[in-house]
Amino acid sequence: MRPTPTIASVTAPRSGNQLFACKSIDKLIAEAEDPGHRLKKTLGPWSLTALGIGAIIGSGIFILTGTAAAGESFQAPSILHAQVLDIVVNLLRGGGTAGVLMHGRPPAGPSIAISFLLVALACSFAGLCYAELASMIPIAGSAYTYSYATLGEIFAWIIGWDLILEYVVSNVVVAIGFGAYTKSQLESFGVHLSDRWSTPVWETGHWTGAYFNVPAFLIVFVLTVLLVRGVKESAEANNVMVAIKIGAILTFLVVGGTLVHPPNWRPFAPSGFGGIVTGGAIVFFTYIGFDSVSTAAEEAKNPQRDLPVGIIGSLIVCTILYVGVSIVLLGMMNYKTFVSGPAAEAPVAYALKHLGASRLAQSVIIIGALMGMISSLLVYQYGQARIWYAMSRDGLFPRMFSAVHRRFKTPHISTWIAGFAVGFPAGFFAISDAADLSNIGTLFAFVLVSLGVIVLRRRQPERVRAFRVPFVPWFPLISVILCGGLMTGLTVITWIRFVVWLGLGLSIYIFYSRHRSEFARHPKHAP
Ligand code: ALA
Repeated sequence: MRPTPTIASVTAPRSGNQLFACKSIDKLIAEAEDPGHRLKKTLGPWSLTALGIGAIIGSGIFILTGTAAAGESFQAPSILHAQVLDIVVNLLRGGGTAGVLMHGRPPAGPSIAISFLLVALACSFAGLCYAELASMIPIAGSAYTYSYATLGEIFAWIIGWDLILEYVVSNVVVAIGFGAYTKSQLESFGVHLSDRWSTPVWETGHWTGAYFNVPAFLIVFVLTVLLVRGVKESAEANNVMVAIKIGAILTFLVVGGTLVHPPNWRPFAPSGFGGIVTGGAIVFFTYIGFDSVSTAAEEAKNPQRDLPVGIIGSLIVCTILYVGVSIVLLGMMNYKTFVSGPAAEAPVAYALKHLGASRLAQSVIIIGALMGMISSLLVYQYGQARIWYAMSRDGLFPRMFSAVHRRFKTPHISTWIAGFAVGFPAGFFAISDAADLSNIGTLFAFVLVSLGVIVLRRRQPERVRAFRVPFVPWFPLISVILCGGLMTGLTVITWIRFVVWLGLGLSIYIFYSRHRSEFARHPKHAP
């Protein structure tokens, strides 16, 4: 049962308005300890770091590196394909939109390695902010919960809704990628899956004639069963998969390293800094996931010490691997190779096959890539279920979403909701630019979390912080600027989709959640 709030349990809305009402951090912690809603505490620093790496390295590094380096071009020019940054720069220069690139994105070329470093830098600043909030508010729900405690209910709703977008869309992308990769690998072993049951039903605005993409759906379904049965078991399975995928990437670095042809590194930055920023906005997808470590706060054995280790540690390991992969891949083949076709769909596998790497090396790397996708899916399904769970616990979604399984002690209903929210779209769609939508949602969450650190330092300076971001407010502000800058590297259509999603969420808040939230049900406690 949900505990009845006490007068001390809610923080006075500063304006007297429910929209800006903040939950008390003590209350959040006490509520999480309520037996009916308590989760098992099983995760240590290694499991948390592995959880982070598991989420971070998914399909992105194996798929997006090539296309981000090669750029993209559309036949028909459209303002919808233009980058917001390009439009702003042109408007500031007084040139209107005449000089805006509307045919697609410029190639980053080998300088995509710099994009990876730049994005890692932005993520590090945001990661520090996540670490501070996660270590002082060790509660499921990540940025959603932090903003409820710092910025107010309406911001919490926006960010929770935004996180659902991030988690659902990125996992739909990874699940579809997993399905396609599995199908093509089975093909190379002579096993043919019927196209009607293994390809998207709806693609670029038309029906394809297929019935359902079973492999993409099935992987999500199996992982959902695993997550419902228990987090400890899932984390152990994750540790094994993380070891395998790191092994696969190291194998690629060694094998691919012997196939490098240095002239491919020239020109290093064919589109200059613009190409590096655009490339960064795309490969940002490959870093999404370190924030999900903070969603495990409630199940960590010692969150104060282990969460910062998990977040920053996983970020460092992945940056080293990503920069290595991009330097080797772009040294193996000219960046223009990856502009379309099989080279664009699976650049790592394509380069190895094309340059005659041994069958054994290819298999090791392909299996590692598949493991990468599975563990990324696993962690994201895990994180997504915790967002549904936390929002339901606060009354913003129906209360049954936050039920905890009697035997397994996992939030089974929210885990199934997360499973179907990802599994069905993955079975139907082929969302080519969904990765961008996921990026904008995540970057927006990072901006709000960074602002949350500044706000909370002012409002509650006395509260114990096991981990403190250095140089506040400057580091969080740098995070806001870098993440905001990457957002402007995305296209107009991505911004429009994001605004539509937020609008839908606000409607749900206005017509449903606002009337069900704790502050609405106990207004007299919120002076
Ligand atoms: N970072 C994850 C990936 O690259 C989402 O697939």
